[in-house]
Amino acid sequence: MVKQVMPLFVRRVTYEAEDINSYELVDPDGGELPEFTPGAHLDINFRDGRVRQYSISSPSSDRMRYRIGVLKVRPPNGRGGSMAVFERVHVGRVVSIGGPRNNFLLDETAKKSMFIAGGIGITPLLCMLHRLEDIGADFVLHYCAKAKKNVAFSEELEKFEADGKVIFHLDGGDPKRGINLKKELADPEEGTHLYFCGPPGLMGAIKKFSSHWPSGTVHYEYFGAPPPSEPPVPKAGQPTKVEEHIGDLAIGVGFQVAVAGTDESYEVPPDRSILDVLIENGHNIEKSCGAGMCGACKTRYVEGVVDHKDLVLRDEEKANYILPCVSRCKSEKLVVDLS
Ligand code: FES
Repeated sequence: MVKQVMPLFVRRVTYEAEDINSYELVDPDGGELPEFTPGAHLDINFRDGRVRQYSISSPSSDRMRYRIGVLKVRPPNGRGGSMAVFERVHVGRVVSIGGPRNNFLLDETAKKSMFIAGGIGITPLLCMLHRLEDIGADFVLHYCAKAKKNVAFSEELEKFEADGKVIFHLDGGDPKRGINLKKELADPEEGTHLYFCGPPGLMGAIKKFSSHWPSGTVHYEYFGAPPPSEPPVPKAGQPTKVEEHIGDLAIGVGFQVAVAGTDESYEVPPDRSILDVLIENGHNIEKSCGAGMCGACKTRYVEGVVDHKDLVLRDEEKANYILPCVSRCKSEKLVVDLS
């Protein structure tokens, strides 16, 4: 698929919480925007070629705007994307946007949905809340933050709080005073689905305490953060885990990639991605982040032992899909289905 890019006008920038802004993007001519589903994100394409992903927080029923939430991550903990948004994206500017795309789907048939957000992780979940509210579905959100000043979209959430659908857990910086995950996740009610998004420590803890939930009922999304098993914050001067993750991607061994149903086969050398090799040979596969973090290049494969290196695919997807911008093949040949 060829990447769709559209210029959008920045209509509003709002201070949502400490170091968190929301950006409201609209069609410059006032038209409707492409539809999206809750959990979707947009790409912001910077002039220097960088692409960053930000989740949409506004209701999917509102086709007149996209509202994204951005947390300012200062060096050395970030790659500079959010700093660039804070410094360069202002009201009245036109920005180059790709998407929307969704790797974090909401199951609207669930009997009940339970959400856990940490900080800026509220962004995709808020969109889901709006959708469930619209269709009259049962849900509860636990919002974890240090203090009130760190709660993004607080006015919107307080409306849900009045109905008992949002519970705030403000721990003052001490996780022991925060949400009791062991208790909250101990006994999943039948038909309940769990969604979470937040900083690595919280993500790791939720994964641990929900490991007994039925298969297919637990959904989560990283926002460009490291897997929870890895140390989350490097010391000053050290690369972040995301930077290390990207650095690691250049390392690999060579193998063949073949296209199913054709006699096309190409060599993928150790220092090149499968995606770049396929694109170079005329195959239209979308490329966005190039780092296994956005899902744009998701491709079906039918043969080969894949070494998954992305932060997007769910375990149940890995048997059939690969993100060829980062992942490698452990066997001699990988066969992809581009039909
Ligand atoms: S281009 Fe973003 S995951 Fe491959």
